Amino acid sequence: GDSGPGRMSEPDDIVAAALALVERPRDLEDVSVVVSAGGTREPIDPVRFLGNRSSGRQGVAIARAAADRGARVTLVAAHLDADVVPDSRVEVIAVATADELGRAMDATAPDADVIVMAAAVADYSVASVSEHKLRKQDAPGGLTLELIENRDIVAGLVAARRDGQTIVAFAAETVRDDDDLLERARAKAARKGVDLLAANAVGWTRGFEVTDNDLVIVERGGDVVATASGSKDDTAHALLDAIVANRVR
Ligand code: CTP
Repeated sequence: GDSGPGRMSEPDDIVAAALALVERPRDLEDVSVVVSAGGTREPIDPVRFLGNRSSGRQGVAIARAAADRGARVTLVAAHLDADVVPDSRVEVIAVATADELGRAMDATAPDADVIVMAAAVADYSVASVSEHKLRKQDAPGGLTLELIENRDIVAGLVAARRDGQTIVAFAAETVRDDDDLLERARAKAARKGVDLLAANAVGWTRGFEVTDNDLVIVERGGDVVATASGSKDDTAHALLDAIVANRVR
């Protein structure tokens, strides 16, 4: 009918109510966000590298979620899986190695209000990269690669942090249980001096090549500020909620 119970609400009202449920807050308007994502690749020779299983999915989701909330976003992208495509609103700087990632972060960090280091950065690189493809006859019976430690990029960003800048690190840990994860997250947050650290458990069948994630987010002092489970978009927004809360304190 035209009136009373059972009358359909105006379609525009239905749309507005639905959007109010799903729309994200525009709480990062005019905020500059730099996110690193993906796994670095350290060359051994022209055809081989040392890499890791990071798909880049969580970092790319954080970049997209920040853009949804109004931020100006730069994504420093190490290797991303082929099906992980950055949002068109995000400026992408493609890098390969930890050294390149570090230089891209050094270049973009000074203007950033928020820095999220979601990339899986190699801790070591190959001491002497071969100019030609290594052949088995170069190392009959076995090959030893000498590795040298890479600099800790996020530690450098923390040392150069300016007032009002929020720096977030990630920690992907193999753990016994949730308590072990929390303990490691607290220790790493304190060691790195970051404002927030998002930790997740990984293993042969956890954390990688999956669309869902479980994060525990701790602040520098070790307090848990949030836990989040669900799609990497959901956990991205939960992390941004924690970042926004951290910035207003
Ligand atoms: N990270 C970094 N520079 C590196 C290695 C890691 O900035 N050379 C950043 C990562 O992007 C992440 C955080 O530091 O945000 C934690 O990375 P992780 O590899 O867990 O830290 P490590 O210091 O290497 O700790 P561990 O002793 O567990 O190897």
